[in-house]
Amino acid sequence: MTTIRHGIHLSGVDSLFMKGIVIYESLTGNTAKAGFAIAEEMSKAGIQTTACSTKAVDLQALSDADIVVIGTWTDGLILLGQRPGGVGRLAQLPAIEGKKTAVFCTYAINAGKTLEKLSGVVARRGGEVIGGATIRRDRIKPSSVEFVDRLLGALEVA
Ligand SMILES: Cc1cc2nc3c(=O)[nH]c(=O)nc-3n(C[C@H](O)[C@H](O)[C@H](O)COP(=O)(O)O)c2cc1C
Repeated sequence: MTTIRHGIHLSGVDSLFMKGIVIYESLTGNTAKAGFAIAEEMSKAGIQTTACSTKAVDLQALSDADIVVIGTWTDGLILLGQRPGGVGRLAQLPAIEGKKTAVFCTYAINAGKTLEKLSGVVARRGGEVIGGATIRRDRIKPSSVEFVDRLLGALEVA
């Protein structure tokens, strides 16, 4: 394929051939908002991406995805004991064995080790974690754009 609409090359493969999915766990809507912003940015870069909740995972989109992005919110005592919200549902995600995955979490004040813990959950499901971001809830759009930029970079060298 010689025509590249978005001018992005990933590992020598046109990103237009790639597919993605963003799976989010959200209580009050922030992580869902970030999930949709991330899916939109990935799609703009030529990676056809669907966003869905952990409560209704699009299994076909998951099975077709070359890159899986998983996000949740920070649960804890604000400055202490932070952990991924809804971790029970996250631990039961359908297997993502061998797929490239990236993680993100939204937070209010301090995400603590939420991202590391979420990476652990995803790795135990078989995902190959290639990147992650903490997204403050009042910076959802710019942080989501920045995250996808970095993700595209990581895919390029992967
Ligand atoms: C029960 C509860 C505990 C929270 N604990 C923390 C915390 O420890 N640190 C923090 O920065 N934000 C904390 N937050 C804020 C959320 O992580 C933040 O608002 C997040 O964006 C919510 O995502 P959601 O709208 O997708 O549910 C907490 C929120 C709730 C409801």
